[in-house]
Amino acid sequence: MIRLSRALAGVALLSLLAAGCAAEQAEEPPVPDAWGEPAVVPDRNPDPRIVEVDLEAREAEKAYLEGTTTTVWAYNGTVPGPLIEANVGDTLIVHFKNSLPEETTIHWHGVRVPNEMDGVMAVQEPIAPGETFTYQFTLRDAGFYWFHPHVMEPEQIQKGLFGLIRVRGPNEPEADVEKIAVLGDVFLNKDGTFNEELDDDTIMMGREGNVVLVNGEVMPALDVQPGGLTRLRIVNVANGRFFNLALPGHTFRVIGTDGGLIPQPYDTERLLVSPGERYDVLLIADGEPGTELTLMNEAYERGHHTGLAEPMPLARVRIGEGPGLSGRTLPETGPAIERLPGGPAEATITFDEGYVDGKLTFTIDGKAFPDVPPIDVQEGSVHVYDLKNDAEMDHPFHLHGFFFQVLARDDVPVADEELANKDTVILPQRSTVRIVTRFDEPGMWMYHCHILEHTERGMMGEIHVEP
Ligand code: C2O
Ligand code: CU
Ligand code: CU
Repeated sequence: MIRLSRALAGVALLSLLAAGCAAEQAEEPPVPDAWGEPAVVPDRNPDPRIVEVDLEAREAEKAYLEGTTTTVWAYNGTVPGPLIEANVGDTLIVHFKNSLPEETTIHWHGVRVPNEMDGVMAVQEPIAPGETFTYQFTLRDAGFYWFHPHVMEPEQIQKGLFGLIRVRGPNEPEADVEKIAVLGDVFLNKDGTFNEELDDDTIMMGREGNVVLVNGEVMPALDVQPGGLTRLRIVNVANGRFFNLALPGHTFRVIGTDGGLIPQPYDTERLLVSPGERYDVLLIADGEPGTELTLMNEAYERGHHTGLAEPMPLARVRIGEGPGLSGRTLPETGPAIERLPGGPAEATITFDEGYVDGKLTFTIDGKAFPDVPPIDVQEGSVHVYDLKNDAEMDHPFHLHGFFFQVLARDDVPVADEELANKDTVILPQRSTVRIVTRFDEPGMWMYHCHILEHTERGMMGEIHVEP
Protein backbone atom coordinates (compact mmCIF):
# COMPACT_ATOMS: atom_id res chain seq x y z
CA MET A 1 0.00 0.00 0.00
CA ILE A 2 2.87 2.36 0.75
CA ARG A 3 4.33 1.79 -2.66
CA LEU A 4 0.99 2.26 -4.32
CA SER A 5 0.30 5.61 -2.67
CA ARG A 6 3.80 6.78 -3.54
CA ALA A 7 3.14 5.92 -7.15
CA LEU A 8 -0.16 7.80 -6.99
CA ALA A 9 1.62 10.77 -5.40
CA GLY A 10 3.99 10.62 -8.36
CA VAL A 11 1.04 10.83 -10.74
CA ALA A 12 -0.38 13.83 -8.90
CA LEU A 13 2.98 15.59 -8.95
CA LEU A 14 3.43 14.87 -12.61
CA SER A 15 0.00 16.17 -13.53
CA LEU A 16 0.88 19.44 -11.78
CA LEU A 17 4.13 19.63 -13.71
CA ALA A 18 2.45 18.61 -16.93
CA ALA A 19 -0.30 21.20 -16.62
CA GLY A 20 1.75 23.78 -18.45
CA CYS A 21 3.44 21.40 -20.85
CA ALA A 22 2.71 20.09 -24.31
CA ALA A 23 -0.24 17.78 -24.69
CA GLU A 24 1.93 14.90 -25.86
CA GLN A 25 3.41 14.72 -22.41
CA ALA A 26 0.04 13.86 -20.95
CA GLU A 27 0.66 10.16 -21.44
CA GLU A 28 4.09 10.12 -19.86
CA PRO A 29 4.13 7.64 -17.02
CA PRO A 30 4.74 8.84 -13.49
CA VAL A 31 8.38 9.41 -12.64
CA PRO A 32 9.10 7.54 -9.43
CA ASP A 33 11.57 9.08 -7.06
CA ALA A 34 12.94 5.82 -5.74
CA TRP A 35 13.79 2.29 -6.63
CA GLY A 36 10.54 0.62 -5.58
CA GLU A 37 12.18 -2.16 -3.58
CA PRO A 38 9.63 -4.95 -2.93
CA ALA A 39 8.09 -4.94 0.56
CA VAL A 40 9.19 -7.69 2.96
CA VAL A 41 6.35 -10.02 4.05
CA PRO A 42 6.08 -10.00 7.86
CA ASP A 43 7.19 -13.24 9.51
CA ARG A 44 4.61 -14.07 12.16
CA ASN A 45 6.49 -16.98 13.75
CA PRO A 46 8.80 -16.16 16.68
CA ASP A 47 10.96 -19.23 16.02
CA PRO A 48 14.07 -17.90 14.24
CA ARG A 49 14.26 -21.04 12.08
CA ILE A 50 10.68 -20.77 10.84
CA VAL A 51 9.46 -18.12 8.46
CA GLU A 52 5.66 -18.13 8.48
CA VAL A 53 3.85 -15.70 6.23
CA ASP A 54 0.43 -14.89 4.82
CA LEU A 55 0.01 -14.44 1.10
CA GLU A 56 -3.19 -13.44 -0.59
CA ALA A 57 -3.69 -13.20 -4.33
CA ARG A 58 -6.25 -10.50 -5.07
CA GLU A 59 -7.10 -7.65 -7.38
CA ALA A 60 -5.40 -4.33 -6.76
CA GLU A 61 -4.94 -1.08 -8.59
CA LYS A 62 -1.70 0.25 -9.94
CA ALA A 63 -0.84 3.45 -11.81
CA TYR A 64 1.42 2.40 -14.66
CA LEU A 65 0.37 5.22 -17.01
CA GLU A 66 -0.36 8.72 -15.84
CA GLY A 67 -4.01 9.42 -15.26
CA THR A 68 -5.02 5.77 -15.53
CA THR A 69 -5.26 2.89 -13.16
CA THR A 70 -4.66 -0.69 -14.13
CA THR A 71 -6.46 -3.47 -12.32
CA VAL A 72 -3.65 -5.87 -11.54
CA TRP A 73 -3.61 -9.27 -9.86
CA ALA A 74 -1.21 -9.10 -6.99
CA TYR A 75 0.18 -10.97 -4.02
CA ASN A 76 -0.63 -8.93 -0.91
CA GLY A 77 -1.70 -6.03 -3.10
CA THR A 78 1.64 -5.05 -4.64
CA VAL A 79 3.33 -5.50 -8.02
CA PRO A 80 6.01 -6.76 -7.81
CA GLY A 81 4.72 -9.01 -5.11
CA PRO A 82 6.37 -9.03 -1.72
CA LEU A 83 9.76 -10.37 -0.70
CA ILE A 84 10.08 -13.39 1.58
CA GLU A 85 13.33 -13.14 3.55
CA ALA A 86 14.88 -16.24 5.08
CA ASN A 87 18.13 -17.98 5.95
CA VAL A 88 19.28 -21.22 4.43
CA GLY A 89 17.86 -24.19 6.36
CA ASP A 90 14.77 -22.27 7.52
CA THR A 91 11.35 -23.79 7.18
CA LEU A 92 9.00 -21.67 5.13
CA ILE A 93 5.25 -21.87 5.84
CA VAL A 94 2.98 -19.93 3.51
CA HIS A 95 -0.69 -19.55 4.33
CA PHE A 96 -2.07 -18.75 0.92
CA LYS A 97 -5.54 -17.44 0.15
CA ASN A 98 -6.90 -17.16 -3.35
CA SER A 99 -9.11 -14.07 -3.52
CA LEU A 100 -9.01 -13.92 -7.31
CA PRO A 101 -12.03 -14.64 -9.51
CA GLU A 102 -10.09 -17.57 -11.04
CA GLU A 103 -8.29 -20.67 -9.78
CA THR A 104 -4.55 -20.50 -9.19
CA THR A 105 -1.54 -22.19 -7.55
CA ILE A 106 1.89 -21.04 -6.42
CA HIS A 107 5.02 -22.51 -7.97
CA TRP A 108 8.33 -21.76 -6.20
CA HIS A 109 10.58 -21.17 -9.17
CA GLY A 110 14.08 -22.53 -8.52
CA VAL A 111 13.40 -23.65 -4.95
CA ARG A 112 14.06 -27.35 -4.34
CA VAL A 113 10.80 -28.45 -2.75
CA PRO A 114 9.11 -31.80 -2.10
CA ASN A 115 7.07 -32.73 -5.17
CA GLU A 116 3.66 -32.08 -3.60
CA MET A 117 4.70 -28.46 -2.88
CA ASP A 118 5.69 -27.64 -6.47
CA GLY A 119 2.41 -25.93 -7.32
CA VAL A 120 1.81 -27.60 -10.66
CA MET A 121 -1.51 -29.15 -11.66
CA ALA A 122 -0.08 -32.67 -11.76
CA VAL A 123 0.59 -32.55 -8.01
CA GLN A 124 -2.17 -30.34 -6.65
CA GLU A 125 -5.73 -29.40 -7.40
CA PRO A 126 -5.84 -25.78 -8.46
CA ILE A 127 -6.93 -23.54 -5.57
CA ALA A 128 -10.43 -22.28 -6.30
CA PRO A 129 -11.56 -18.69 -5.69
CA GLY A 130 -12.04 -18.14 -1.95
CA GLU A 131 -10.02 -21.25 -1.06
CA THR A 132 -6.79 -21.54 0.90
CA PHE A 133 -3.72 -23.76 0.74
CA THR A 134 -0.69 -24.08 3.01
CA TYR A 135 2.69 -24.54 1.40
CA GLN A 136 5.49 -25.75 3.65
CA PHE A 137 9.06 -26.73 2.88
CA THR A 138 12.66 -26.26 3.95
CA LEU A 139 14.81 -23.76 2.10
CA ARG A 140 17.80 -25.91 1.19
CA ASP A 141 19.80 -23.43 -0.86
CA ALA A 142 20.86 -19.82 -0.38
CA GLY A 143 19.95 -17.74 -3.40
CA PHE A 144 17.36 -15.51 -4.99
CA TYR A 145 14.15 -17.15 -6.16
CA TRP A 146 10.71 -16.11 -7.26
CA PHE A 147 7.21 -17.49 -7.14
CA HIS A 148 4.30 -17.35 -9.54
CA PRO A 149 1.16 -19.29 -10.50
CA HIS A 150 1.35 -22.48 -12.54
CA VAL A 151 -2.20 -22.16 -13.86
CA MET A 152 -2.92 -19.86 -16.80
CA GLU A 153 0.65 -18.61 -16.46
CA PRO A 154 0.74 -16.12 -19.36
CA GLU A 155 -2.34 -14.27 -18.14
CA GLN A 156 -1.81 -14.51 -14.38
CA ILE A 157 1.87 -13.60 -14.39
CA GLN A 158 1.49 -10.69 -16.77
CA LYS A 159 -1.33 -9.35 -14.58
CA GLY A 160 1.15 -9.05 -11.71
CA LEU A 161 1.30 -12.36 -9.86
CA PHE A 162 4.95 -12.77 -8.98
CA GLY A 163 6.91 -12.40 -5.76
CA LEU A 164 10.46 -12.90 -4.52
CA ILE A 165 12.34 -15.10 -2.06
CA ARG A 166 15.79 -14.15 -0.81
CA VAL A 167 17.57 -16.88 1.11
CA ARG A 168 20.82 -15.87 2.80
CA GLY A 169 23.69 -18.24 3.37
CA PRO A 170 26.72 -18.25 5.66
CA ASN A 171 29.09 -16.67 3.14
CA GLU A 172 27.36 -13.62 1.71
CA PRO A 173 29.75 -11.16 0.00
CA GLU A 174 30.26 -7.68 1.41
CA ALA A 175 28.31 -4.82 -0.12
CA ASP A 176 27.45 -1.26 0.90
CA VAL A 177 23.97 -1.50 -0.54
CA GLU A 178 21.93 -4.45 -1.67
CA LYS A 179 18.96 -4.02 -4.00
CA ILE A 180 16.54 -6.06 -6.02
CA ALA A 181 15.75 -5.49 -9.70
CA VAL A 182 12.61 -7.18 -10.98
CA LEU A 183 12.67 -6.80 -14.77
CA GLY A 184 9.37 -7.04 -16.59
CA ASP A 185 6.88 -5.40 -18.89
CA VAL A 186 3.15 -4.99 -19.44
CA PHE A 187 1.15 -4.49 -22.60
CA LEU A 188 -1.40 -1.76 -21.87
CA ASN A 189 -4.13 -0.03 -23.77
CA LYS A 190 -4.28 3.80 -23.58
CA ASP A 191 -6.82 3.61 -20.78
CA GLY A 192 -4.45 1.50 -18.67
CA THR A 193 -6.28 -1.80 -19.14
CA PHE A 194 -4.29 -4.85 -20.16
CA ASN A 195 -4.16 -5.51 -23.87
CA GLU A 196 -4.72 -9.24 -24.06
CA GLU A 197 -4.97 -9.61 -27.83
CA LEU A 198 -3.05 -12.60 -29.08
CA ASP A 199 -1.98 -13.03 -32.67
CA ASP A 200 0.61 -15.40 -34.06
CA ASP A 201 3.36 -12.76 -33.89
CA THR A 202 2.72 -12.29 -30.18
CA ILE A 203 2.64 -16.02 -29.60
CA MET A 204 5.79 -16.54 -31.67
CA MET A 205 7.99 -14.21 -29.63
CA GLY A 206 6.04 -14.33 -26.37
CA ARG A 207 4.09 -11.26 -25.31
CA GLU A 208 6.31 -8.21 -25.06
CA GLY A 209 4.74 -5.27 -23.31
CA ASN A 210 4.74 -1.64 -24.44
CA VAL A 211 5.63 -0.46 -20.94
CA VAL A 212 8.96 -1.76 -19.67
CA LEU A 213 9.37 -1.92 -15.92
CA VAL A 214 11.95 -2.30 -13.20
CA ASN A 215 10.34 -3.13 -9.85
CA GLY A 216 6.98 -2.31 -11.39
CA GLU A 217 8.05 1.26 -12.25
CA VAL A 218 9.05 3.10 -15.38
CA MET A 219 12.62 4.42 -15.13
CA PRO A 220 13.03 4.18 -11.34
CA ALA A 221 16.17 5.62 -9.76
CA LEU A 222 18.79 3.55 -7.99
CA ASP A 223 20.85 5.59 -5.54
CA VAL A 224 24.45 4.47 -5.20
CA GLN A 225 27.38 5.87 -3.27
CA PRO A 226 30.42 6.94 -5.27
CA GLY A 227 33.02 4.20 -4.89
CA GLY A 228 30.51 2.05 -3.02
CA LEU A 229 29.79 -1.61 -3.67
CA THR A 230 26.26 -2.20 -4.89
CA ARG A 231 24.86 -5.71 -4.95
CA LEU A 232 21.94 -6.27 -7.31
CA ARG A 233 19.73 -9.35 -7.34
CA ILE A 234 18.12 -9.49 -10.75
CA VAL A 235 15.17 -11.54 -11.99
CA ASN A 236 13.32 -11.45 -15.29
CA VAL A 237 9.58 -12.00 -14.75
CA ALA A 238 8.47 -11.02 -18.27
CA ASN A 239 6.37 -13.38 -20.39
CA GLY A 240 8.67 -13.12 -23.38
CA ARG A 241 11.07 -10.19 -23.23
CA PHE A 242 14.80 -10.81 -22.83
CA PHE A 243 16.85 -8.14 -21.03
CA ASN A 244 20.41 -7.40 -22.12
CA LEU A 245 21.62 -5.07 -19.38
CA ALA A 246 24.42 -2.55 -19.72
CA LEU A 247 25.52 0.34 -17.56
CA PRO A 248 27.78 2.64 -19.61
CA GLY A 249 31.32 2.79 -18.28
CA HIS A 250 30.75 -0.11 -15.90
CA THR A 251 31.09 -3.85 -15.82
CA PHE A 252 29.00 -6.19 -13.76
CA ARG A 253 30.83 -8.71 -11.65
CA VAL A 254 28.60 -11.77 -11.72
CA ILE A 255 28.82 -13.52 -8.35
CA GLY A 256 25.78 -15.75 -8.55
CA THR A 257 22.91 -16.98 -10.62
CA ASP A 258 19.73 -19.07 -10.28
CA GLY A 259 20.90 -21.47 -7.57
CA GLY A 260 23.08 -19.09 -5.55
CA LEU A 261 26.68 -17.90 -5.47
CA ILE A 262 29.17 -19.27 -8.00
CA PRO A 263 32.77 -20.34 -7.26
CA GLN A 264 34.33 -18.22 -9.94
CA PRO A 265 32.91 -14.70 -10.31
CA TYR A 266 33.40 -13.11 -13.74
CA ASP A 267 32.99 -9.71 -15.36
CA THR A 268 30.65 -8.77 -18.14
CA GLU A 269 29.61 -5.52 -19.79
CA ARG A 270 26.36 -7.05 -21.01
CA LEU A 271 24.19 -9.18 -18.81
CA LEU A 272 21.65 -11.18 -20.78
CA VAL A 273 18.71 -12.30 -18.63
CA SER A 274 15.99 -14.46 -20.17
CA PRO A 275 12.53 -14.98 -18.64
CA GLY A 276 12.83 -16.91 -15.37
CA GLU A 277 16.59 -16.45 -14.89
CA ARG A 278 18.30 -14.70 -12.00
CA TYR A 279 21.69 -13.03 -11.67
CA ASP A 280 23.48 -11.75 -8.60
CA VAL A 281 25.97 -9.00 -9.48
CA LEU A 282 28.24 -6.50 -7.78
CA LEU A 283 29.26 -3.18 -9.21
CA ILE A 284 31.33 -0.28 -8.00
CA ALA A 285 29.76 3.00 -8.99
CA ASP A 286 32.39 5.00 -10.76
CA GLY A 287 31.45 8.50 -11.83
CA GLU A 288 31.24 12.14 -10.79
CA PRO A 289 29.32 12.54 -7.53
CA GLY A 290 25.91 13.98 -8.29
CA THR A 291 25.67 12.60 -11.82
CA GLU A 292 23.18 10.17 -13.25
CA LEU A 293 23.77 7.13 -15.44
CA THR A 294 21.22 5.19 -17.44
CA LEU A 295 20.84 1.44 -17.12
CA MET A 296 20.17 0.28 -20.67
CA ASN A 297 18.52 -2.69 -22.29
CA GLU A 298 20.78 -3.27 -25.30
CA ALA A 299 19.59 -4.85 -28.51
CA TYR A 300 19.76 -8.63 -28.64
CA GLU A 301 18.74 -10.77 -31.58
CA ARG A 302 16.79 -13.64 -30.05
CA GLY A 303 15.34 -14.88 -33.28
CA HIS A 304 13.11 -14.08 -36.22
CA HIS A 305 15.04 -10.81 -36.60
CA THR A 306 13.19 -9.10 -33.80
CA GLY A 307 16.10 -8.00 -31.66
CA LEU A 308 17.36 -5.27 -33.91
CA ALA A 309 15.42 -2.53 -32.18
CA GLU A 310 17.15 0.46 -30.61
CA PRO A 311 18.63 0.10 -27.14
CA MET A 312 16.10 1.13 -24.52
CA PRO A 313 16.60 2.97 -21.21
CA LEU A 314 15.42 1.00 -18.18
CA ALA A 315 16.41 2.84 -15.04
CA ARG A 316 18.43 5.73 -13.67
CA VAL A 317 21.49 5.18 -11.52
CA ARG A 318 22.17 8.26 -9.38
CA ILE A 319 25.66 8.63 -8.01
CA GLY A 320 25.39 10.33 -4.64
CA GLU A 321 27.17 13.51 -3.56
CA GLY A 322 29.98 13.51 -1.10
CA PRO A 323 33.49 12.33 -0.62
CA GLY A 324 32.70 8.79 -1.69
CA LEU A 325 33.80 5.48 -0.35
CA SER A 326 37.19 4.02 -1.03
CA GLY A 327 39.06 0.77 -0.83
CA ARG A 328 36.16 -1.38 -1.94
CA THR A 329 37.18 -4.50 -3.82
CA LEU A 330 35.26 -7.05 -5.78
CA PRO A 331 35.50 -10.70 -4.71
CA GLU A 332 37.72 -12.91 -6.87
CA THR A 333 36.28 -16.19 -5.65
CA GLY A 334 33.02 -17.51 -4.31
CA PRO A 335 31.99 -20.58 -2.35
CA ALA A 336 32.72 -23.98 -3.90
CA ILE A 337 29.86 -25.95 -5.37
CA GLU A 338 29.84 -29.63 -6.18
CA ARG A 339 30.64 -30.25 -9.82
CA LEU A 340 28.38 -32.95 -11.23
CA PRO A 341 30.07 -35.60 -13.38
CA GLY A 342 30.16 -34.90 -17.13
CA GLY A 343 30.23 -37.37 -19.97
CA PRO A 344 28.44 -37.89 -23.25
CA ALA A 345 24.74 -37.15 -23.52
CA GLU A 346 22.53 -40.19 -23.16
CA ALA A 347 19.67 -38.57 -25.04
CA THR A 348 18.84 -35.53 -27.11
CA ILE A 349 15.70 -33.54 -26.39
CA THR A 350 14.72 -31.42 -29.40
CA PHE A 351 12.85 -28.11 -29.19
CA ASP A 352 11.14 -26.71 -32.26
CA GLU A 353 8.21 -24.71 -33.52
CA GLY A 354 5.80 -25.00 -36.39
CA TYR A 355 2.20 -25.16 -37.48
CA VAL A 356 0.26 -28.25 -36.43
CA ASP A 357 -3.24 -28.39 -37.91
CA GLY A 358 -2.97 -24.68 -38.70
CA LYS A 359 -2.08 -23.76 -35.12
CA LEU A 360 1.27 -22.32 -34.12
CA THR A 361 2.75 -24.95 -31.83
CA PHE A 362 5.97 -25.32 -29.86
CA THR A 363 7.18 -28.87 -29.68
CA ILE A 364 9.49 -31.18 -27.78
CA ASP A 365 10.64 -34.14 -29.86
CA GLY A 366 7.92 -33.27 -32.34
CA LYS A 367 5.09 -33.44 -29.79
CA ALA A 368 3.15 -30.80 -27.87
CA PHE A 369 2.32 -31.14 -24.16
CA PRO A 370 0.57 -33.24 -22.88
CA ASP A 371 1.64 -35.63 -25.67
CA VAL A 372 5.38 -35.24 -25.01
CA PRO A 373 6.55 -38.68 -23.77
CA PRO A 374 7.69 -38.46 -20.13
CA ILE A 375 11.31 -39.15 -19.21
CA ASP A 376 11.69 -41.88 -16.56
CA VAL A 377 14.65 -41.81 -14.19
CA GLN A 378 15.55 -43.33 -10.80
CA GLU A 379 15.80 -41.23 -7.64
CA GLY A 380 19.42 -40.26 -7.01
CA SER A 381 20.59 -40.90 -10.56
CA VAL A 382 22.64 -38.42 -12.59
CA HIS A 383 21.79 -37.80 -16.24
CA VAL A 384 23.37 -35.88 -19.09
CA TYR A 385 21.08 -34.56 -21.83
CA ASP A 386 21.60 -32.61 -25.01
CA LEU A 387 18.98 -29.90 -25.34
CA LYS A 388 18.82 -29.23 -29.05
CA ASN A 389 17.08 -26.12 -30.29
CA ASP A 390 16.09 -26.55 -33.95
CA ALA A 391 14.06 -23.34 -34.00
CA GLU A 392 15.10 -19.98 -35.38
CA MET A 393 14.69 -18.38 -31.99
CA ASP A 394 16.07 -18.76 -28.48
CA HIS A 395 14.08 -20.72 -25.92
CA PRO A 396 14.80 -20.34 -22.19
CA PHE A 397 14.70 -23.91 -20.86
CA HIS A 398 13.50 -24.26 -17.26
CA LEU A 399 13.59 -27.37 -15.04
CA HIS A 400 11.48 -27.77 -11.90
CA GLY A 401 12.73 -29.39 -8.72
CA PHE A 402 16.45 -29.66 -9.49
CA PHE A 403 19.41 -27.58 -10.47
CA PHE A 404 21.43 -28.50 -13.52
CA GLN A 405 24.89 -27.56 -14.69
CA VAL A 406 25.76 -26.59 -18.25
CA LEU A 407 28.53 -28.83 -19.61
CA ALA A 408 28.89 -27.83 -23.25
CA ARG A 409 27.49 -25.71 -26.06
CA ASP A 410 27.55 -27.27 -29.51
CA ASP A 411 29.95 -29.90 -28.14
CA VAL A 412 32.43 -27.29 -26.89
CA PRO A 413 32.92 -27.59 -23.12
CA VAL A 414 31.95 -24.40 -21.29
CA ALA A 415 34.53 -22.26 -19.49
CA ASP A 416 35.26 -23.01 -15.83
CA GLU A 417 33.60 -19.78 -14.76
CA GLU A 418 30.31 -21.15 -16.06
CA LEU A 419 30.16 -23.73 -13.25
CA ALA A 420 26.85 -22.80 -11.67
CA ASN A 421 23.65 -24.33 -10.41
CA LYS A 422 21.01 -23.23 -12.88
CA ASP A 423 17.30 -23.83 -13.20
CA THR A 424 16.82 -21.79 -16.38
CA VAL A 425 19.19 -21.49 -19.33
CA ILE A 426 18.90 -19.96 -22.78
CA LEU A 427 18.98 -22.48 -25.62
CA PRO A 428 20.21 -20.23 -28.41
CA GLN A 429 18.58 -20.66 -31.80
CA ARG A 430 19.87 -23.61 -33.84
CA SER A 431 22.26 -24.89 -31.19
CA THR A 432 22.65 -27.55 -28.54
CA VAL A 433 23.26 -27.09 -24.82
CA ARG A 434 24.45 -30.11 -22.81
CA ILE A 435 23.34 -30.25 -19.18
CA VAL A 436 23.77 -32.60 -16.24
CA THR A 437 21.31 -33.07 -13.36
CA ARG A 438 21.05 -35.24 -10.28
CA PHE A 439 17.41 -36.23 -9.75
CA ASP A 440 17.41 -36.58 -5.99
CA GLU A 441 13.74 -35.97 -5.22
CA PRO A 442 11.02 -38.39 -6.31
CA GLY A 443 7.91 -37.26 -8.12
CA MET A 444 6.61 -35.79 -11.33
CA TRP A 445 8.57 -32.73 -12.37
CA MET A 446 7.97 -30.34 -15.26
CA TYR A 447 10.43 -28.87 -17.67
CA HIS A 448 9.42 -26.19 -20.16
CA CYS A 449 10.30 -23.12 -22.12
CA HIS A 450 9.84 -20.05 -19.88
CA ILE A 451 8.42 -17.95 -22.68
CA LEU A 452 4.96 -18.39 -21.26
CA GLU A 453 3.11 -18.36 -24.58
CA HIS A 454 5.33 -21.29 -25.60
CA THR A 455 4.70 -23.20 -22.35
CA GLU A 456 1.00 -22.81 -23.03
CA ARG A 457 1.31 -24.01 -26.62
CA GLY A 458 3.13 -27.25 -26.09
CA MET A 459 6.74 -26.68 -25.08
CA MET A 460 6.54 -28.55 -21.79
CA GLY A 461 7.35 -32.08 -20.67
CA GLU A 462 7.50 -34.25 -17.55
CA ILE A 463 10.27 -36.10 -15.79
CA HIS A 464 9.16 -38.97 -13.59
CA VAL A 465 11.63 -39.66 -10.81
CA GLU A 466 10.92 -43.13 -9.43
CA PRO A 467 11.72 -43.69 -5.73
CU1 C2O B 1 8.87 -20.26 -13.43
CU2 C2O B 1 7.28 -23.86 -14.44
O1 C2O B 1 8.09 -22.04 -13.94
CU1 CU C 1 9.91 -23.34 -11.98
CU1 CU D 1 10.21 -20.89 -26.15
